Amino acid sequence: LSSYPSYIDLLPSIQTCNITNLPENYFLKYYLYHALTWPQLSFVAVVRPKNGYKTGGNGGAGIAGDVSGQYPKVVGYVLAKMEEEPADGKPHGHITSLSVMRTHRRLGIAERLMRMSQRAMAESHRAHYVSLHVRVSNIAALRLYRDTLGFEVEKIESKYYADGEDAYAMHLKLESMW
Ligand code: ACO
Repeated sequence: LSSYPSYIDLLPSIQTCNITNLPENYFLKYYLYHALTWPQLSFVAVVRPKNGYKTGGNGGAGIAGDVSGQYPKVVGYVLAKMEEEPADGKPHGHITSLSVMRTHRRLGIAERLMRMSQRAMAESHRAHYVSLHVRVSNIAALRLYRDTLGFEVEKIESKYYADGEDAYAMHLKLESMW
């Protein structure tokens, strides 16, 4: 297993996935901060190669590389954290960013990534709830959060985004998963 790429090896590919799919982007060190501070909470989906992982891994099991490059390609990620200074005093998780490559959408990847992160927030950190922000125009993400996962709209944050668009602040209770 030591020859498999670590989460840190995959950070450039996660960053590429983010830049491709969302206008909200982050320095590499911010991904690293998430990985080092809350290693349980962030997850990736990678493509499994036809010919296995080039530098020695077993393509038939677990994480595996693509045929063209040194590391597997990230096709989806959830970047998540615990709120460091919760205003209400309740430990809770926060979804910093979620995206899935167009080629791999509507396969249930985002739902799975979100459920894995939510479980880890509850089990590893006894998070009371998970929060996130989403553009009011983002129908696909809204459907995912509200209809599939059960998030509720807490409030609208006016001009939350750099281009002036409003955000829904949403949350989902996690105490039942403790
Ligand atoms: N239209 C309507 N409903 C949708 C759509 C869509 N295009 N995409 C997902 N859903 C809803 C459906 O209810 C779907 O269930 P179904 O397929 O059984 O009908 C459910 O969400 C689960 O869908 P997944 O397959 O798990 O979602 P996917 O892996 O395709 O990823 C995502 C959804 C992340 C919103 C993707 O479209 C994406 O990457 N969009 C661009 C980036 C983005 O908007 N990210 C969220 C920003 S907010 C934040 O980061 C906190």
